[in-house]
Amino acid sequence: MHEPRASRATLELVPRRVDPSKPVADRCRREVGLEVVERQTDDPQWLRLGFLRACAAGESGDETHGQHAAHALIVPDAAGQNPGATTIRAMRVAIIGSGPAGFYAAGALLDADVPIEVDMIERLPTPWGLVRLGVAPDHPKLKTVSRAYERIAEKPAFRFLGNVEVGRDLTHSDLVRLYDAVVYAVGAQTDRRLGIPGEDLPGSWSATEFVAWYNGHPDFQEISFDLDVDRAVVIGNGNVALDVARMLALTPEELAPTDTTDPAIEAIGASRVREIVVVGRRGPAQASWTTQELKEMGELAGADVAVDPADLELDPASEAALEHDTNARRNMDVLREFANRESTGNPLTVRFLFFHSPVAVRGDEKVEAIELVRTRLEEQNRRLVAVPTDERETIECGLVFRSVGYHGVPLPELPFDERRGTIRNEGGRVIADDDGPVPGVYCAGWIKRGPTGIIGTNKKDATETVTHLLEDVREGRLEHKAGATAEAVDALLAERGVRVVLYPGWTGIDELERVAGEKLGRPRVKLRTWDELLDAAGQVAETTTR
Ligand SMILES: Cc1cc2nc3c(=O)[nH]c(=O)nc-3n(C[C@H](O)[C@H](O)[C@H](O)COP(=O)(O)OP(=O)(O)OC[C@H]3O[C@@H](n4cnc5c(N)ncnc54)[C@H](O)[C@@H]3O)c2cc1C
Ligand SMILES: NC(=O)c1ccc[n+]([C@@H]2O[C@H](COP(=O)([O-])OP(=O)(O)OC[C@H]3O[C@@H](n4cnc5c(N)ncnc54)[C@H](OP(=O)(O)O)[C@@H]3O)[C@@H](O)[C@H]2O)c1
Repeated sequence: MHEPRASRATLELVPRRVDPSKPVADRCRREVGLEVVERQTDDPQWLRLGFLRACAAGESGDETHGQHAAHALIVPDAAGQNPGATTIRAMRVAIIGSGPAGFYAAGALLDADVPIEVDMIERLPTPWGLVRLGVAPDHPKLKTVSRAYERIAEKPAFRFLGNVEVGRDLTHSDLVRLYDAVVYAVGAQTDRRLGIPGEDLPGSWSATEFVAWYNGHPDFQEISFDLDVDRAVVIGNGNVALDVARMLALTPEELAPTDTTDPAIEAIGASRVREIVVVGRRGPAQASWTTQELKEMGELAGADVAVDPADLELDPASEAALEHDTNARRNMDVLREFANRESTGNPLTVRFLFFHSPVAVRGDEKVEAIELVRTRLEEQNRRLVAVPTDERETIECGLVFRSVGYHGVPLPELPFDERRGTIRNEGGRVIADDDGPVPGVYCAGWIKRGPTGIIGTNKKDATETVTHLLEDVREGRLEHKAGATAEAVDALLAERGVRVVLYPGWTGIDELERVAGEKLGRPRVKLRTWDELLDAAGQVAETTTR
């Protein structure tokens, strides 16, 4: 699975620290060829992280190279026989999760002035996280961000280890033993709960489930959504709620050129839903959707939009808040335009209902109605929050989609903040329960900051984490592990019988899906089940059945 690199470097060990702020000159790096994995030793003298004076006497004879501080993991050339001639080992980093945060972290690490190898470990056989399995299929342009991830994956020091789940196939303890540093970028894998009676009745779904189903997530393909109902209620005023409402409202013609899965196209195409009510617990000025996404709701081929003009008359605090919030101001303009529209006789209406919060989902065997309480806004801790009034309303419906946010899932052995649903961290450095940083363990993306922010937000976020990781390298806070080799990882996975899907395995899936899509004028036809995906991956590691 792993091909050791061949080049060698002769370096002089500098026993004292040199100025870490000085960058390694490109020329120096080229000549030294910081890409060697040859021998290892258990001698701690050589296994510590250290600063090297790159390319000293004998190799290039160029004294100026000695000015540049290269920082690397060092192993002696011949089991410590000749400490003057050392080889450099790249630092090995595991990134857990292949969504935007994982890829941006990989990109930043592989661009660093330190020789680094990245193993990206992903539980699915496919990369890209929510870019493949969350972003709505009728937004194909947004998915093209994956091209940037493909370029990162092409770098020689990058490996994709798909179908490997941390917590099942590898433990955190395995990872800290097998890598010099670990970056968790596992996203937020579940939904926030409403905590109301009837939430789990058949017909009450989380947005997480619906989104994963129509996007082809292999864990969610057994679900059967009964869309043979008159009315669906979507709880929440975020962009995901708009995705859910819009996907439900798309016509077969609008769905046809997308990579929505075939069963979802069929089910949505045959849907009998005539009204979709999007419910916000606060007012229109507090909705968190972005204006472009809101505007799109008014451009659907088969649906009208309806807004009660009375809801758009703002209280003074909301009015004042608009002054500093361009997005909310633009949303108000769009909603006012929606409120002025007459029905065009479309078979379906998307209705926006504000100032209502769910109290209970009602029904005997399945969802029959949702009970809401009217709310009013009250300022608490400088924030306008929804507080319930005495007024209640029941809306008959056969489907409820709860879209009130995602939530991170704790990983064994890692400190976790239950309320926020994040790994405990400071700027991406994982913080232990006794408040100190856990050496060599980091996080990025939604599992670091919570489930908010668009794809691009994760670039800044992951860059911050990597900056801190590199700072720890420079300051000598990371210890090189004797067992941190690609061979050791491969051997352990093989021993545990894990069917690893390497990057070529993924490109096999990608190619099959794209070719199938091309014939139909679609970006791809997604493979949906574990068996289909693993079969298509073809190229897998030495495997045994699980
Ligand atoms: C429904 C939806 C639609 C969205 N649409 C847009 C949009 O149109 N535009 C936009 O800019 N942003 C959009 N976003 C936001 C964007 O998707 C997120 O900001 C981004 O995906 C978060 O990146 P991440 O890497 O932290 O998490 P994720 O993208 O969730 O990636 C996490 C990865 O970790 C893997 N993983 C989890 N646990 C393990 C484990 N134990 N072992 C190994 N691997 C594991 C997962 O399988 C996944 O691949 C959307 C979000 C959602 C939920
Ligand atoms: N096209 C895109 O760019 C796109 C598409 C999808 C997602 N995303 C991004 O992905 C992130 C996640 O989106 P999201 O929609 O899941 O989250 P979100 O933007 O945080 O929205 C969550 C919504 O749920 C409401 N809510 C929370 N708890 C509730 C409760 N108990 N009862 C009723 N309502 C409740 C919130 O209301 P309050 O405000 O009152 O708390 C809010 O309206 C966002 O940053 C989003 O922008 C982007």
